[in-house]
Amino acid sequence: MKKIATLDHYAASLLVAESIADVVRTEKNACLGLATGGSMELVYANLVEFFEKDGVSFGRVTTVNLDEYIGLPPSHLQSYRHYMNSHFFDLVDIDKANTCIPPGMEAPEAALAAFQKFLGSHPRDFQLLGVGANGHIGFNEPGAFFEANAHIVTLDECTRKDNSRFFGSIDEVPRQAITMGIGDIMKASKIMLLVRGDNKKEALRELISHDRVDPRVPCTVLKLHSDVTVVYPEKLAP
Ligand code: GLP
Repeated sequence: MKKIATLDHYAASLLVAESIADVVRTEKNACLGLATGGSMELVYANLVEFFEKDGVSFGRVTTVNLDEYIGLPPSHLQSYRHYMNSHFFDLVDIDKANTCIPPGMEAPEAALAAFQKFLGSHPRDFQLLGVGANGHIGFNEPGAFFEANAHIVTLDECTRKDNSRFFGSIDEVPRQAITMGIGDIMKASKIMLLVRGDNKKEALRELISHDRVDPRVPCTVLKLHSDVTVVYPEKLAP
């Protein structure tokens, strides 16, 4: 595992965006696994800038997102479809037909089956990851074991509380989501995890300070992947 401590979150986001742009330039029909959350906003802002100023094109790129809340329509400001459209897809030359985010309003079992099928037929060159304060990746919450495949998850109260800052109140935060499984995440050729926020310090320490893999801190599974880079502002270093 490669660890990169940067001056601040801006430098970390720029580095991650440059890595994504490299994949897009190198792979003719790149498939990117994407993530949402406050941590990713500057990554997408940088990619939009690369598109506008440096001619980086997403015209041949396919994307698949990690997860989506169940019960939020795509028009909902906090749905991950809305997040991706407004921060990235609407601002670059990507064909939205080539962007996969499980639909939160469809019957969950049908949405899940379609998501699993898409993942099975689209190997990812790159997977972008953030991390929850409890160590979750995607919406793979702490548990007794790792779930390999995409699945429906009941969100941890810690996650609902953390994410309630984007909603009017915690009661508005959905209780369930569809997420890629740990096995899906680990299948990507290259993984980059961007850590932002003092509340992620403990998860970062579990990830980079020792070799233990523990389903109670899901991000620790990344230690088993052969091409993972963890990027974080130096003030979060353990
Ligand atoms: C959500 C997403 C995760 C993301 C996490 C961190 O829970 N499902 O994929 O990593 O948020 O969010 P933030 O960047 O807002 O701290």
